[in-house]
Amino acid sequence: MSRSKKRLPPVVNSWPVLGGLLRFLKGPVVMLREEYPKLGSVFTLKLLNKNITFLIGPEVSAHFFKAPESDLSQQEVYQFNVPTFGPGVVFDVDYSIRQEQFRFFTEALRVNKLKGYVDQMVVEAEEYFSKWGNSGEVDLKYELEHLIILTASRCLLGEEVRNKLFDDVSALFHDLDNGMLPISVIFPYLPIPAHSRRDQARKRLAQIFANIIASRKQTGKTENDMLQCFIESKYKDGRQTTESEVTGLLIAALFAGQHTSSITSTWTGAYLLCNPTYMSAVLEEQKNLTQKHGNKVDHDILSEMEVLHRCIKEALRLHPPLIMLLRSSHSDFSVKTQEGIEYDIPKGHIVATSPAFANRLPHIYKNPDKYDPDRFAPGRDEGKVAGAFSYISFGGGRHGCLGEPFAYLQIKAIWSHLVRNFEMELISPFPEIDWNAMVVGVKGKVMVRYKRRELPLN
Ligand code: HEM
Repeated sequence: MSRSKKRLPPVVNSWPVLGGLLRFLKGPVVMLREEYPKLGSVFTLKLLNKNITFLIGPEVSAHFFKAPESDLSQQEVYQFNVPTFGPGVVFDVDYSIRQEQFRFFTEALRVNKLKGYVDQMVVEAEEYFSKWGNSGEVDLKYELEHLIILTASRCLLGEEVRNKLFDDVSALFHDLDNGMLPISVIFPYLPIPAHSRRDQARKRLAQIFANIIASRKQTGKTENDMLQCFIESKYKDGRQTTESEVTGLLIAALFAGQHTSSITSTWTGAYLLCNPTYMSAVLEEQKNLTQKHGNKVDHDILSEMEVLHRCIKEALRLHPPLIMLLRSSHSDFSVKTQEGIEYDIPKGHIVATSPAFANRLPHIYKNPDKYDPDRFAPGRDEGKVAGAFSYISFGGGRHGCLGEPFAYLQIKAIWSHLVRNFEMELISPFPEIDWNAMVVGVKGKVMVRYKRRELPLN
């Protein structure tokens, strides 16, 4: 108990000054695995001059997800994105503008838009896999990363980039990507070569998009892509988005959606190829759908793929690419644990929750380390039994992922095509987790032997 009679969360035992940092650098999830059994669902880590308070599990994380920005904000903790996304967007602007920009995302990802994107996703998948031979061996991770960049280019950045400027723009995105390192989170402007390449790439992308936007405006040509939505987006006061804002929002969309989706499609594949029962169930579902709709695949048909949906959702439960979500607290608040202990979290703390850890809590998920997509089937519904924040791979509440439907559609478009057209076998060991990446994914190659089906699936 502190003198004010407030009960502060227990503190992780570590050496003074650098101890907390060392514990964190060893891997935040390793630290959580060690401390949760000792300290429970709420505890504080002293990291240099900061206090990070972890709220683990649906019982204590509701405030994290639901609090208004004035109480728990993202701006300070996600500031490191600013040099990548560029000026005037997302974490570089105050909350009222950011909210409007998130409205632009919401509008660009509405069902009527998604329907058009899906048609492009399907074409991209068909074209990409038509280049595979009748049989062969591939690194699934590389293939899916590549396909998803192509699809994202088409749906988000537009056909000018996808058809003419793909190589240039992907090289620039590569530099942006490589400019976001763990050190960039603490020192985003550190003068290192990776950061100067990032800054150059950002400038060049702004020029490229300025040209595309100008040409679309001049010709009056409109397209069904996120670029077009952002060009046409207007703030409440009637102001139109600037070219620089459109570029920044597109970069943000790509950063939010590209690695997260390609990692999830790789894990989904790895699990399906190692779990014949679920692969058969997915195959059966695809057979039923081809009997019903023929070879056609569109938004509504993808939405019927419930078994595949659960297989993706379960891969994502076990391997959420965003392992840690953060906020900065601007007012004191309290949380009550499952055991009935109430803790007061003072303003000034950084508040964190971890999809990677919370998604495997044994009191929420039966046999949590097992790949068991049926845990999400009607009747069991393990992702909901402990309330809205039991399954947090896409976050939730006020800042829940706006791209969740897009991500599922994209991954389903890929995997329905693959299982309908190929027999596949995993020939490398089951992949390990690459904990060192900023967006946590699959370590090393994921080698697969494939054979094109001779007969259509039905
Ligand atoms: C499997 C794929 C994806 C995963 C696992 C994922 C995960 C997440 C998570 C955990 C958050 C919440 C962050 C927080 O609370 O701090 C988030 C937010 C967001 N995501 Fe995704 N995401 C995915 C795909 C996408 C795609 C494809 C897009 C867009 C095309 C997208 C756009 C966004 C946006 C705009 C936000 C911010 C929402 C807000 O702050 O109000 N995401 N995502």
